Amino acid sequence: MDFVEWDESMSVGSDVFDGHHKIIIECLNALIPLMGKSECSAEIIEVMSRLEEFVLLHFSEEERALRLCGYPDWRAHKELHDQMNDLVFKLKSDVEHGRALEAAYLHEILYSWLMKHILGDDKKYEPYLPK
Ligand SMILES: [Fe+2]
Ligand SMILES: [Fe+2]
Repeated sequence: MDFVEWDESMSVGSDVFDGHHKIIIECLNALIPLMGKSECSAEIIEVMSRLEEFVLLHFSEEERALRLCGYPDWRAHKELHDQMNDLVFKLKSDVEHGRALEAAYLHEILYSWLMKHILGDDKKYEPYLPK
């Protein structure tokens, strides 16, 4: 599994949200060195807590901006955020409560949701954001 590096092709046209997405990508990357190691549950919990706290903040700021700029699909976008918040919260709670989830499993599921969202759904709001 390779580290992902943010690049301009991932930009959503907002320095603030690009910065947020970089932090989310850093959290995903932080799971990679923990893959295949048995004694790293504390580190996995730390990464998942950081990710959970941050996606909550990021999603709410993004939703606020989308409403303010009149993005027509903001409700559907918020629903996707809610699903991802639930997923991240559930995975974080599972590892916190001792469920031995492999870093590779967490990475695979979170990567497919979050990167697909950033590169697909988030990019759609770019033309609506104020310049
Ligand atoms: Fe986003
Ligand atoms: Fe989003």
